[in-house]
Amino acid sequence: MDKFVIKGGRRLSGEVVISGAKNAVVAILPAVILSDQPCIIDNVPDINDVRISLKILREIGAEVSRLDTCKYRIDPTTIKRFCVPYESAKKMRASYYFLGALLGKYNQARVSMPGGCPLGDRPIDQHLKAFSILGADYTLSQGMIDLKAQKLTGNQIFFDVVTVGATMNAMLAAVKAEGLTIIENAAKEPHIVDLANFLNSMGANIMGAGTDVIKIRGVEYLRGTEYSVVPDQIEAGTFMIAAAATKGDVLLKNIIPKHLESITKKLEKIGVNIESFDDSMRVWVEADAPLVKVNVKTSPHPGFPTDMQPQIATLLTLASGTSIVTESIWDKRFGYVDELRRMGADITVNGSVALIEGTGRLNGAPVKACDLRAGAALIIAGLAANGVTEIEDIFHIERGYDSMEIKLRQLGADIEKVAIPDEVQTNLERNNLSENAQAV
Ligand code: EPU
Repeated sequence: MDKFVIKGGRRLSGEVVISGAKNAVVAILPAVILSDQPCIIDNVPDINDVRISLKILREIGAEVSRLDTCKYRIDPTTIKRFCVPYESAKKMRASYYFLGALLGKYNQARVSMPGGCPLGDRPIDQHLKAFSILGADYTLSQGMIDLKAQKLTGNQIFFDVVTVGATMNAMLAAVKAEGLTIIENAAKEPHIVDLANFLNSMGANIMGAGTDVIKIRGVEYLRGTEYSVVPDQIEAGTFMIAAAATKGDVLLKNIIPKHLESITKKLEKIGVNIESFDDSMRVWVEADAPLVKVNVKTSPHPGFPTDMQPQIATLLTLASGTSIVTESIWDKRFGYVDELRRMGADITVNGSVALIEGTGRLNGAPVKACDLRAGAALIIAGLAANGVTEIEDIFHIERGYDSMEIKLRQLGADIEKVAIPDEVQTNLERNNLSENAQAV
């Protein structure tokens, strides 16, 4: 087990190259299954969720080879199994994309139910609804989801909630279905558009991705393609906030400024300077410039992303005034607040609303990441804090951020990844167990 040790107070400056998007690549890698020829995928981030996706592809029989740091060749024509067992699926919620991809190609899929999640209840009823509207029967038993169809036929799918995962899964299942599928109340995130672009580059016929109505005319054959994954808007946003929190001056490269508009607008209100170019963006704050309060409410794209909520809340602890942050996607996305309080933050949470009294400063402390974006927020807090911050459970962060500490060091941060010796780790786990036992 590793932890991050950060000596705070250093101003970030320089250039950082943003990697491919986690939430696009975890759908594009399974989508390769639909191809009738090998594909080459570029700009693949070096993150644990990618490693798990590639492992699952290998387990079901695909041939995967790494051509370069961020480039893979995947041959799906050798796939022989249609089952993703619990051991692999439990490590990543996005394993549910193997349902849509296997069903869309082979009319059958067997994937372990995605497990519990620190963000709260994460139902998949809308995914199952879409599959069944397209003609699949499903059964749930012993923790596995079984999907089977005689054939898939295009149909009208209206989602009861705006859902990224179910929109992508419906696209995967519909792309080879006979006739026209119309998805209404679809999610509009950049990764939805990226999945559509990838499938279209193989010969699919998808229109309207990025709007709330997506039309898919099924095709029989999908050819191999070479495709580069869209830049990660959340990684970019995280670095924007890290630059702002340290009153730094950072040029982000390999980004799409349009995807960052909701984040940019909020940061400008807080007092952050932002200049956008074609595929890069400069983010800076003068050393003596004040940061001021703002209210933020998360909502589906093009609204402010829930995946940036912990990071912006952390920045607001450093601003003057009282900010209100409202979370409208996940029930339990304030898990990081207790950790920030250990660093001196003044935050009160009431249901889905957090009241942040900006104190202008944070102090280093030992803290624990409880999920991916919570971990990113604690890194930002540690970079801005006085003194030393030690962050445990960084495996959450490494699920979704490519070389986070290396990129930050290149910007001048004092951050190290340090191994926690086994003996200390065992004691920590023992203490955690007894704490949990007391809590119950
Ligand atoms: N929902 C349902 N039924 C469903 C599916 C979703 O009620 O069948 C509800 C959820 O409970 C939630 C809302 O719909 O309240 C939105 O969920 P969505 O399906 O959009 O989330 P997701 O696809 O499971 C993806 C990202 C999350 C991100 C959300 C929202 C991936 C792999 N994950 O999750 O990313 O928070 O969209 O944008 O794309 C992260 O990267 O840190 C992360 C958690």
